[in-house]
Parts: sequence; structure tokens; C-alpha cells
Amino acid sequence: MLRYTAMIGLAAAIVFAALPAQAQGTVKVGALLPMTGPQQSTGVQIAAAIRLYAAQHGDTVAGRKIQVIVKDDGAVAEASRRLAQELIVNEKVDVLAGFGVTPTAFAVSPLATEAKIPQIVMAAGTSSVTERSPYVVRTSFTLAQSSVIMAEWALKNGIRKVVSMVSDFAPGIDSENFFKEAFLKGGGEISQFIRIPLTNPDFAPFLQRARDARPDAVFIFVPSGQGGIFVRQFLERGLDKAGIKIIGPGDVTDDDLLNAMGDSVIGTVTAHMYSAYHPSPLNKDYVAAMRKANNLRPNFMSVGGYDGMHLVYAALAKTQGKTGGDALVAAMKGMAWESPRGPIAIDPDTRDIVQNVYMRRVEKVEGELYNVEFETFPAVKDPGKAKR
Ligand code: PHB
Repeated sequence: MLRYTAMIGLAAAIVFAALPAQAQGTVKVGALLPMTGPQQSTGVQIAAAIRLYAAQHGDTVAGRKIQVIVKDDGAVAEASRRLAQELIVNEKVDVLAGFGVTPTAFAVSPLATEAKIPQIVMAAGTSSVTERSPYVVRTSFTLAQSSVIMAEWALKNGIRKVVSMVSDFAPGIDSENFFKEAFLKGGGEISQFIRIPLTNPDFAPFLQRARDARPDAVFIFVPSGQGGIFVRQFLERGLDKAGIKIIGPGDVTDDDLLNAMGDSVIGTVTAHMYSAYHPSPLNKDYVAAMRKANNLRPNFMSVGGYDGMHLVYAALAKTQGKTGGDALVAAMKGMAWESPRGPIAIDPDTRDIVQNVYMRRVEKVEGELYNVEFETFPAVKDPGKAKR
């Protein structure tokens, strides 16, 4: 009897050992997001999209339960690094995700490299983010993707003289540089380069200076959440009345702030990768589901979270539940799928997102303001990579 039990025990041990050691138990995803502070809307949007994805697709992939742990880093690099360290050491997370701003993505990359776990960047948009670690995979966007296309469109549409105004941190510098290069190359003129402090920005004095320069347009990059204050001050200073247009990456006409900006923004043209008005059945369902579950209009940050979750689920399905950064990142490379924003893919060489960039014009539709897409630039790679 004893012998028999021991044999069963031995057989069970062999079966157990034959399974890959990692393909058991819960897969933990640690999401570092700004749930408080000036970048709060980014955290709220992404966390809501992550929850929606899990509610729609279940909490199990390849027999493994998925657990998402959200930590509030307030968009502060040092807090993000400390919380990531805790998630790695104490929670033993298999994946790090989130990153509402570039400085938090930068701060955590060395830890992802050391721990050999994927770092899924769902928001930050500076081109070099993906170069900080071989474990970074991005599902958001780069400022270069939209700024180059914006410059070319502006030149074709009679905008020759511009004042550039960007938030003074990495993605702002990227948008300034990529816009500048394309706009000057096409024969445009940029009369001022203005950089605005990221925290508590006051655009008014700079807008006064910009108005005096009599440009055709102000090229503006503000991070998600600041579009409302920029537009208010732009209108207060009468730049619209002076015939000056707003152009830029679509962060400024953010879907979740747009309705509050008022009818004066109707006609504003921006280049971007997501509009809540994107006319696909998948996006219509997404917008309806986000409204129902969270009572919010999803913005471009939210899709980075939704697609980031898809990437983790699809990679785990491909590895049959095996974790570890090398296996998961290999599975993610080259993956392509349909997002609420349109078709997207992960560039196998750079681990950066390849996606459509749309030209959009603010219009009023059924009583609400939307960025209505009117031209599509398909499958745009990050122009920031080609240079290196
Ligand atoms: C960034 O920090 O990379 C960032 C933040 C907000 C944006 C875009 C980029 O809207």
C-alpha cells in the first residue's frame, strides 16, 4: 500500500516536472499609472481600458489567470522606479505596463532589463523610449509619427509661417524637432520656438508674443490633459480672431476635453492616431462600452491601454502561458491586429508601434464635438528610428 502511494506520488511528480516550470499559476501585470496629479486623466483612461479589456476577454489565458495590479506613480519618475522595484521584488510581476509620461518610462527601463521582463509602454510618446531596453514594447504612439505628417499637410494647405510652442520635456522636444525638420525642408518658416514649463503652464504671455509675430498657425504640443487650458488662453488672447490657426499632434484636441472647449475650436485640424469618432464597428463598440462601464469618452491614451492588454493576452496565448521577457517579447514582435484606432502592428525590429495617422478636423456631430478623420496615412512607422 505504502509502495503504491509512493509510486503515484512519483508519477505525479514526473508529470508536474514535465510541465514548463513557469506555465503555472497567476500571471501578474504591474501597471504604473498616474492616477492622481496633473496627468491623472491619462491614468484614469488607461486603467478603465485595461479593466474593460479584461471584462470582455476574461481573466485566463492559456490556462493562466491574469492579475493586473495598478500602482499610482503620479507621473513622477522616482515614484515609478520605486514602485516598479517593489512590484518586481515583492509581487514578482511577470510584466510591467502603463507609463503615462516619458520620464517614468525612462526611469523603469533599467529595471525591466535587469529583471528581464516586458515593459509595455501604453502612453509615453518620445521616440527613444523603445531604445532604453530590449524589453520595451510600445502600444501608444510617437510624437514624430504625427508631427511630420502635420508639417507636410500644413505646407500643402497654405500654411507657410508658424510659431512653434511645445511643452518643455522629452515628447515636446521631439514634436518640435520632427515638425521643424519636415516644415523647413518643405520651405516653411518658423519664426519662434517656444518651450512652456510642463507644470502649471501659463501660455498667455507666449500667446501674446506669438500673436504679434502674425503667423498662419501656432504648432502646439501639450500633453493630454492640458489642451483645455491652452485653447481657452488662445481664444482669450484673440488669436483665432486674428486668423491664426492651431495645428499639431492631436493631443491638444483631446477627445475627453473637446466638448468643454466650445464651438470656437470647430475647424481645427490636427494629425493623430485615434479619434473617438473613428468610423469602424470595433471603435463604435469600444466607445459605447467605455461610456457604459466608466461613463467617459475614451481618448487616445485609453487605446494604448486596451491594445497593451491585447498584446499581453495574445503573447501569452502564443507562448502557451510561458512568461519571461525573452519569450514574451519574441512573441510580441511582428504581431498585428485591429485596434479601435484601426489596424496596428509591432515593428519586429524596433518593438515600436506601426499605425495609421489620420488628419482630422473638429466638427459638431449630433450636438457633440469630435475630431472627424478626413485623410489616412497608412501603416506609419516611427520616423525617429530611421535616423539612427
Ligand atoms: C509623454 O510623456 O511621452 C507624453 C505625455 C502626454 C502626451 C504625449 C506624450 O499627450
